[in-house]
Amino acid sequence: MDTLHFQLDGVAVETTYEAGESLLDILRDRLGVMAAKNGCGTGGCGACSVLLDGKIRRACTLKPAKLAGKAVTTAAGLPEPQRSMVCTCLVKAGAVQCGFCTPGMVVAGVALLLRDAEPDEAAVRKALRGNICRCTGYGRIVAGLLEAARRLRDGESLPAFPPADGVGRPACRTGDLARTLGGEPFVDDVRLPGMWYGAVVLAPAPRARILAIDAAPALALPGVERVIGAAEIPGERLQGMIHRDWPMYVAVGETTRCVGDVLALVVARTRAQARAGAAAVAVEVEELAPVTSPAQALADGAPRLHPGGNLLSNPVLARGDLAAARAATVHTATDTFTVPPIEHAFLEPESALAVPASWDGPWPEPFPAVATGCLTVLSGTQGVFADRRQIASVLALPEDQVRIVLVPPGGGFGGKEDLSVQHHAALAAYLCGTPVNVTLDRAQSIRTHPKRHGMAIEAEIGCDAAGDLTYCTARITADTGAYASLGGEVVERATVHATGPYRFGAVQLEGRTVYTNNPPAGAMRGFGVPQVAFATEALLDRLADACGSDPLEMRLRNALRAGWPFATGQILEEDVRFVDTLEAVRDIFEQARAAGKAVGIASAIKNVGIGVGVPDFGRVRLEVRGGRVTVYSGAACMGQGIEQVLRNVTCGAVGCPAGDVDVVLGDTATTPDAGVTTASRQTFLTGTACRMAAQELAAAAAVAGSLTALEGREFAAEYGPTTHAITDPDPDPRSHVAFGFATQVAVLDDDGAVERLVTAVDVGRVVNPLGVLGQVEGGTAMGLGYALSEDLAYDGGWPATTNYAKLGLPRATDMPAMEIRVLPPAEHDGPSGSSLGAKGVGEVSAIPTAPAVAAALRVHTGLPMTTLPLGKKKGRS
Ligand code: FES
Ligand code: FES
Repeated sequence: MDTLHFQLDGVAVETTYEAGESLLDILRDRLGVMAAKNGCGTGGCGACSVLLDGKIRRACTLKPAKLAGKAVTTAAGLPEPQRSMVCTCLVKAGAVQCGFCTPGMVVAGVALLLRDAEPDEAAVRKALRGNICRCTGYGRIVAGLLEAARRLRDGESLPAFPPADGVGRPACRTGDLARTLGGEPFVDDVRLPGMWYGAVVLAPAPRARILAIDAAPALALPGVERVIGAAEIPGERLQGMIHRDWPMYVAVGETTRCVGDVLALVVARTRAQARAGAAAVAVEVEELAPVTSPAQALADGAPRLHPGGNLLSNPVLARGDLAAARAATVHTATDTFTVPPIEHAFLEPESALAVPASWDGPWPEPFPAVATGCLTVLSGTQGVFADRRQIASVLALPEDQVRIVLVPPGGGFGGKEDLSVQHHAALAAYLCGTPVNVTLDRAQSIRTHPKRHGMAIEAEIGCDAAGDLTYCTARITADTGAYASLGGEVVERATVHATGPYRFGAVQLEGRTVYTNNPPAGAMRGFGVPQVAFATEALLDRLADACGSDPLEMRLRNALRAGWPFATGQILEEDVRFVDTLEAVRDIFEQARAAGKAVGIASAIKNVGIGVGVPDFGRVRLEVRGGRVTVYSGAACMGQGIEQVLRNVTCGAVGCPAGDVDVVLGDTATTPDAGVTTASRQTFLTGTACRMAAQELAAAAAVAGSLTALEGREFAAEYGPTTHAITDPDPDPRSHVAFGFATQVAVLDDDGAVERLVTAVDVGRVVNPLGVLGQVEGGTAMGLGYALSEDLAYDGGWPATTNYAKLGLPRATDMPAMEIRVLPPAEHDGPSGSSLGAKGVGEVSAIPTAPAVAAALRVHTGLPMTTLPLGKKKGRS
């Protein structure tokens, strides 16, 4: 143990450290300074940014030997007035979504303003190049920093936030101010006295028979308290959101299915001791040849990876008279498209803190203690009730003896729907009788959690001589990796959406969801639709060429409209405004073409809500106390803004200021179950339930004479329209409650780089315009990475990289100019049955970018684009 002296945020500190620790370890684990976040631990994300003697550095790569006598400044210690101005302007611009990147962005931004009082946009983007934001698309961050620079130059005071007092009003998430300096905790920021740490022992090979697991070497190490494995699970070992096929621990005698399989958990007094213990566990295996592709998995004689075989699901959708449609066809377009698996790359790795029911120590701030006697898990999850159901089954406890408290995670994008570390932390706390934190490092995270599916899509579409689409056939083969996760549901959604937002006389669509020994695949923003849209949109352009139309007119001619059937046969309702999204970008499309630019256009349809006959509901409970309204809902916020949506909806209906509304999300002890935050469903379902309850409250207040007269009253509502399975024979099966639409135009420069992206979206009634902009910009950035650079290739069942910096994620300098055109409110009232009229925006904006960029590159190169990613193209740098 060595001793180190340095200045931290202007104060002299002395601390001890051990060999191998970084400045980030010292800050977080020894000094309790949480303003620097650990996003990757390898210098690739910028979340740990600090100033070292005034120069920006990554704390995770700084060794203590280089720190003696130096001045370290975290976001919390930055100088004024720059610090407050940057933080306030970021919040005002809507630049904080999950907030995990934000303290690092603040450090980078203030460092820039300290050396350059008049930065232009290019300088701001360059200053942020080392900092990844996976949520925002950077546009709001850049806007916030430019405003901060201007105000500082002009000697202006901090900006005021506009009043956010109803649906349709831009609402700054003022509660996010604390997040800008790292002041609102993520799970791994919470420390409890006596808390222990758990570290996972992962499979040494994707497919290997486990012959022995020897914990003795780990238990001999200092600080190691316990090594937990399959034999110590009191309840159900197999877990899963829907299909229970994922073992919490692989047992001796069993065969691993991927390199993310967990063999044991080492629990120790410190994080470093736990990780040293995990490395010391001796595992003896017999390696077997892994099954690494769907073709291998479906071949005769392939090893059977699960008892039911290697085909997880095989959704089929056939509608219309395919033979007659083919007979009426004049032009066809057909090809096979391949898209890779990609990583969610949420900035906060998975983390959970479990506290045993016997705990009588202090409860972590700011989470409210509830004297339930429950085992409690602080979880950065997308669904607290789904976590509770599974953890209770692991522990063989009644669900009401397990409490899950949402700690809003640092991004999710679908990758935090499954259990990852929550059940490990829970079991460890249950067995050890003390709080236990389990947090994955970035490499473990990439090996473990489900990815966006890699797919091969064999598709064919046809049209008649006039350009009217006749039929669509598609066969989608998806590598779902080692476990089901939501793979079957993703592939069903991909199958159903393979027609895109177009009318076909007949469809014959099939999906195949195939187990392999690759890391699992599951939900990711778009839920299978980004993959198939890449194929359908490309084929549509080819048909447009064949029949002498242009891509915009071809889409307009065949665009789904109210009264027309979707692929499932569902007759669409008045809320469908796809045509309006096409018309909204006509000017940019035609002007760019007239200017001789390579330009591409693509569109997207995305279901809102789970649909397909699965029970789906949003729920809230409103409580009046002291003249204030508190909204309780089990919904999770991962940065997408459901908290602000519920606040806007409530104060709009009740007629009170936004400041009089509190929102409590995701606590199984106090909030009603509102399902998982997925499928763009929360604004539509929980937002509508909130409006129903708030309207009832407002009516009661009118009768009572005031809000305060309702002291102690509660108003609960549930909203959950019925849907039908895709195989339902009903002539108008309502497979989904609503659909969102988007159209995007990509314009290239003369070198083939994307210089401009213009997006038009139909999201129904806009609840928070600032939130919608942030979602669309963030979705577009994710779409751009998918188009050009993201590819989590697997090599023999192993991710080709577990380095965050090598995932191909767009940086601030990679982003082209972006323009968002949100359709103005329509005359009708949005999706039927929803008094709110909002559809949700989280996913649809992430879908059209890859096909739009591919279309533009096809124009630029004259070559068909059938494989993602399309290649790194320079941005603004
Ligand atoms: Fe240091 Fe990512 S945590 S750069
Ligand atoms: Fe930047 Fe979430 S707000 S990573």
